[in-house]
Amino acid sequence: MFAARRTFAGIAQTRAFSASARDLSKVTILGAAGGIGQPLSLLCKLNPRVTDLALYDIRLAPGVAADVSHINTKSKVTGYDPTPSGLAAALKGAEIVLIPAGVPRKPGMTRDDLFNTNASIVRDLAKAVAESAPDANILVISNPVNSTVPIVAEILKAKGVYNPKRLFGVTTLDVVRASRFVSEIKNTDPRDENITVVGGHSGVTIVPLFSQSSHPDLVGNADLLNRVQFGGDEVVKAKDGAGSATLSMAMAGARFAESLLKAAQGEKGVIEPTFVDSPLYKDQGIDFFASRVELGPNGVEKIHDVGKITAEEQTLLDACLGDLKKNIEKGVAFVAQNP
Ligand code: NAD
Ligand code: LMR
Repeated sequence: MFAARRTFAGIAQTRAFSASARDLSKVTILGAAGGIGQPLSLLCKLNPRVTDLALYDIRLAPGVAADVSHINTKSKVTGYDPTPSGLAAALKGAEIVLIPAGVPRKPGMTRDDLFNTNASIVRDLAKAVAESAPDANILVISNPVNSTVPIVAEILKAKGVYNPKRLFGVTTLDVVRASRFVSEIKNTDPRDENITVVGGHSGVTIVPLFSQSSHPDLVGNADLLNRVQFGGDEVVKAKDGAGSATLSMAMAGARFAESLLKAAQGEKGVIEPTFVDSPLYKDQGIDFFASRVELGPNGVEKIHDVGKITAEEQTLLDACLGDLKKNIEKGVAFVAQNP
């Protein structure tokens, strides 16, 4: 049996003693050796706000950690063995836990087809987070996000540690894609394109609000809408059986984590669309919804409503809400039946 913990401490100590407690930010990645996990680990290692990077997977995390730890940035990188004590140690003291653990799609599959495999993976990891890092911000990447986020919430509730302000479904990739695709049409710099995307993270639950962008003329552009809603399928098809988006997702996950760290360190006005426990459609039995969320030291600071939208966008939103409700209920039912 390997020791549960392998540190690459040399680089770390200096940072630990020179940073104030407020600046110490441990980020844990569960599923760190996967297609998303590896580039996400790399990007977190490059982020100066991350002081301690903990990598866990059921395979290869110590190897990924050894590799990433040679990058000459200050943070400490630790890889953990796939044991309960390794998982607990990876989580202890984490400010942010990113979860890209689980299987990806193959051509012809929907995200919901991943449910049977990923629901129990996410459930078990959520139990470990509840026990070892109950105060962490939890960023769920594993699909189907519309169901895995409610699964995590139900586990945290059962353990008595649910804090709705600290649970996030990562929908950043939809926003990243939307801005990129718009820039291709409008011949602009994608960094200047701020496209709000609301709803959830699959097919028709992904609702871009072009009326609120600087290109309201794009409302009704069916090809663009289809590309934003089914951008994931575009990658799955191109990878031809070898998985789904990993590199763009790693960038999107790292961006969201960076936004949370910025907000935790006092920066104001940090807003990201994300799938959270939301009051917006609770009256329709929908407990989670992605909209623009202002982040702060306590996680969710303010949930913005969808704002003014066109009749066409309202039709998209209505279709979204129908699917979303079923996806959320499926996650809740799974935990009730498989606690
Ligand atoms: P992958 O198969 O390349 O990597 C998944 C990793 O998870 C593997 O290394 C595997 O060993 C690990 N893993 C499995 N069970 C685990 C467990 N119990 N504990 C810890 N690690 C475990 O897959 P990928 O391409 O990295 O995708 C991962 C997930 O992210 C998929 O479900 C995919 O659909 C999803 N995804 C979400 C988004 C999004 O926008 N939210 C984007 C892309 C992919
Ligand atoms: C994506 O949007 O790329 C991810 O959700 C992965 C997928 O299955 O499409």
